[in-house]
Amino acid sequence: MSTIRNIVILTGAGVSAESGIDTFRDGGGLWEQHRVEDVATPEAFARDPELVQRFYDMRREAIQTKQPNAAHHALARLDSEWSGNLLIVTQNVDDLHERAGAKRVLHMHGEHLNAWCTACDVRSRWTGPLIDGPACPACGERALRPDVVWFGEIPYRMEEIFAALQEADLFVSIGTSGAVYPAAGFVRNARDLGVATLELNLEPSQGTLWFDEARHGPASEVVPAWVDEMLS
Ligand code: OAD
Repeated sequence: MSTIRNIVILTGAGVSAESGIDTFRDGGGLWEQHRVEDVATPEAFARDPELVQRFYDMRREAIQTKQPNAAHHALARLDSEWSGNLLIVTQNVDDLHERAGAKRVLHMHGEHLNAWCTACDVRSRWTGPLIDGPACPACGERALRPDVVWFGEIPYRMEEIFAALQEADLFVSIGTSGAVYPAAGFVRNARDLGVATLELNLEPSQGTLWFDEARHGPASEVVPAWVDEMLS
């Protein structure tokens, strides 16, 4: 991998699993405990805002008790030491990449620790509950919602992601099942652009056959090993 200069990394729930944050589709995962249609669509929010706010309030509170694991720390080290372009595109709404020290992070599915005002469109850092309908710090309206991309909504900053893929020499997918588009399609976008592709996941993902190489094992082991290789 000595000719690699620009890297795009996609992370998913598997990178935070060993920090104690539930994944979505593993046994006992979030989408086994809750129906997507009840808590993760704009229609659900319109129908029962309290249920949706309560769900995200609990998740927002929970992530603040979790700590980054060895995979987050290894990626943060790669971010700080890699002199080429590097972008960590995460589907995760937790802040564990940042708390490990990573700087070049893009949250394509939003962030738990933001509230988004649907009245003035301003996003404010938010660590507490939203269920009581607090006022937006920017405009005073009581129109805050979780800053999380729901099913049927368009993920954030897609143009930046595609621009980074166009410049990339290597695309690495870590801890994601490959079930949710557009992220699940990045490996094929990368291949079409002639970018080398690597999967690091506990088990083969749904898109595993699209990758040039796949290494399977817990993120806390396979990610630090790969980062050591890249920096050696
Ligand atoms: P999933 O729950 O679909 O997939 C998690 C993946 O991580 C699976 O392939 C697991 O095998 C793997 N995994 C579990 N533990 C691991 C570990 N310790 N080390 C490495 N891999 C591990 O989660 P995502 O692919 O992130 O979207 O889900 C994508 C999107 O679907 C989420 O961002 C969310 C969800 O609906 C929205 O909420 C918009």
